[in-house]
Amino acid sequence: MALTAAKYFLDPARKSTAEDEARFFRSLKVRNRNSKQTARGRLDALNAMAIELLKTPGRRIASALDIGISSGVTTAELYDAFRDAGMAPSLVATDLSIYASIVHLSPDIRVLIDSCGDILQYDIHGFAVRPWRRRLDRFTGMSLFKSAIEKRYADAARKALKGGGAKADRVALINPRLAAYDNIELREDDLLKRNPEFASRFDFIRAANVLNREYFEEATLRAAVATLKSYLSGPGALLLIVRTNDGTGHHGAFYELGADGRLSEVRTIGGGSELAAIVDATEPAP
Ligand SMILES: C[S@@+](CC[C@H](N)C(=O)[O-])C[C@H]1O[C@@H](n2cnc3c(N)ncnc32)[C@H](O)[C@@H]1O
Repeated sequence: MALTAAKYFLDPARKSTAEDEARFFRSLKVRNRNSKQTARGRLDALNAMAIELLKTPGRRIASALDIGISSGVTTAELYDAFRDAGMAPSLVATDLSIYASIVHLSPDIRVLIDSCGDILQYDIHGFAVRPWRRRLDRFTGMSLFKSAIEKRYADAARKALKGGGAKADRVALINPRLAAYDNIELREDDLLKRNPEFASRFDFIRAANVLNREYFEEATLRAAVATLKSYLSGPGALLLIVRTNDGTGHHGAFYELGADGRLSEVRTIGGGSELAAIVDATEPAP
């Protein structure tokens, strides 16, 4: 069972292991059903490929963007890999939700709410209850239990947070190691909304395990890929889109922005990206 947010963040006696951290983040899901799943070393092989590609003539790495960072453990590893390779880019790390509040409705009931106002976890007498439903929940009665909890506590927690009617602890949903890096800027940002501050800014962008056909519709994915492209700094800049399957490994590709404003695949990973056709069809940058 996953740890409660209170145990993970607020219990000074508790030293969380890497497995605790992975399980805790895996149990959280944001509004588009994407989970905050990540794990140490998960993207190491791809970091090595990125560095090899970034070292080739015509490429540069002064600025990088990591999208959908979850706890940021793989972001810290990307940064370390850059540093070990003698590269020192500024790194912007984004997620839909980075900050959240643990609202204490009573000594035994707490609710974790992200900055979008979405409930990430209920803590009922020390047991973590995920608000999202699994298919199995329908057969075990868990679905009814979750509906009852939601009815009783969701709006109460949101109101208490807004009106200051309950104790609340603000927490950053990230690995403490990441917070210690001065050169990594953490930003809450929705990849589906174009951010003018990011326009033409990054030499390397990583979108790992955030965009996929399971959670997003074709039109949304098309817009998201066009957005990512608009964030690339110019010809030679690289975009990595990848999805990791626990059984079969990484599938994706590195794309390079060309002088013609188009993205072309420069390295295929595993079986390739499920978004390849969308990337190919993206309009050239103006
Ligand atoms: C499965 S985790 C990926 C973590 C890490 N990139 C990795 O590959 O290990 C997906 C993350 O994407 C974030 N996410 C989902 N939708 C997003 C959006 N529209 N904009 C930014 N981040 C988003 C989720 O909050 C979650 O933390």
